[in-house]
Amino acid sequence: MAKKTILDLKDIQGKKVLIRVDFNVPMKDGKITDDNRVVEALPTIKHILEKKGKAIVFSHLGRVETEEDKKKNSLAPVAKHLSSLLNQDVKFVPATRGAELENAINALKDGEILMFENTRFEDIDGKKESKNNKDLGAYWASLGDIFINDAFGTAHRAHASNAGIAANIKTTVAGFLLEKEIKFLGEAVDNPKRPFVAILGGAKVSDKIAVIDNLIAKADKIIVGGGMMFTFLKAQGLNVGKSKCEEDKVELAKELLAKANGKIILPVDTLATKEFSNDAPIRVSAVNDIKADEMGLDIGPKSVEVFKDALAGAKTVVWNGPMGVFEFSNFAKGTVAVCDALANLKDANTVVGGGDSAAAAIQLGYASRFTHISTGGGASLEYLEGKVLPGIDCVNNK
Ligand code: 3PG
Repeated sequence: MAKKTILDLKDIQGKKVLIRVDFNVPMKDGKITDDNRVVEALPTIKHILEKKGKAIVFSHLGRVETEEDKKKNSLAPVAKHLSSLLNQDVKFVPATRGAELENAINALKDGEILMFENTRFEDIDGKKESKNNKDLGAYWASLGDIFINDAFGTAHRAHASNAGIAANIKTTVAGFLLEKEIKFLGEAVDNPKRPFVAILGGAKVSDKIAVIDNLIAKADKIIVGGGMMFTFLKAQGLNVGKSKCEEDKVELAKELLAKANGKIILPVDTLATKEFSNDAPIRVSAVNDIKADEMGLDIGPKSVEVFKDALAGAKTVVWNGPMGVFEFSNFAKGTVAVCDALANLKDANTVVGGGDSAAAAIQLGYASRFTHISTGGGASLEYLEGKVLPGIDCVNNK
């Protein structure tokens, strides 16, 4: 069902516009280490400010269970960063409710913006935000005239700050980012130009079972790399040594291989080492020759060629999960090769499904070379699983 978007809003001037963003960004020593989610939210915020709305921006950051958690999870530094990106003052309100917040909202002039504190500060007392407390959703809804949900990264959660507000306000529309995510992920999964190839990696099969299951029916090929490849290799009867392997998922991997009927493509070699370290000596090993004291930390060079062949001519590619331990430079080659192969496909829609693969694509310098890099980790996975996401579902239908 098509959803209403920010462009369906007619009268924005003078309206108090609640904008839920996902500014759950990685931070180190109080500094943002990857601001992609903030940058991606700018079109929506700028549009509201240009149309002279009063922007009330809010997000969660991390998990907040104790007073101690509050100290490291304040959104104040993010508000400051947003201000510098907008080149406009962003008033930060260090509260999630009450007179200070309400007065600040009432003082906003047309075209001004404020951001309030981490919505999960409301979790300390009974997980009100995360359990979608009715009163909290209604309270936040009462602060605005219109609600824009632009937090795709949080769309798999039914929390007070998305579904809760939507349930208590007349108008809920998708922001530009949410709309973009639905368009690219939706087109890729539900209406792909073919051949459609999925590339799945990451450490655990258990995280990707539902995705593989959903994509078996939709994709033409499913390439599997990353730590989870070893559970599949074990399912094929191979010895994987000390490699990451989920013993309790081997049977399931067998079932998936049978169900996929040849669509699943596995690596043929791996970079084997005896220690989980960037500096340990590396041996390129065929997947049927991994020694008992070795572990594979990346796909090998022959696998890269096999994967490139499988990708040749693809018109839609969805990628989720790195091919190896890409945080170690010596084991990033497989992930770099996949980035490179995708970046060089002609006329293909290439969608990176959030999380670690998005971080890898950005860190390795490929950000501008994909059709779309999702800002959702868990959310894009659940989307790829074919689930209904509450943060999308709660937006008004067209
Ligand atoms: C994410 O980073 O996946 C989202 O911001 C959701 O965060 P959460 O897993 O803490 O709910």
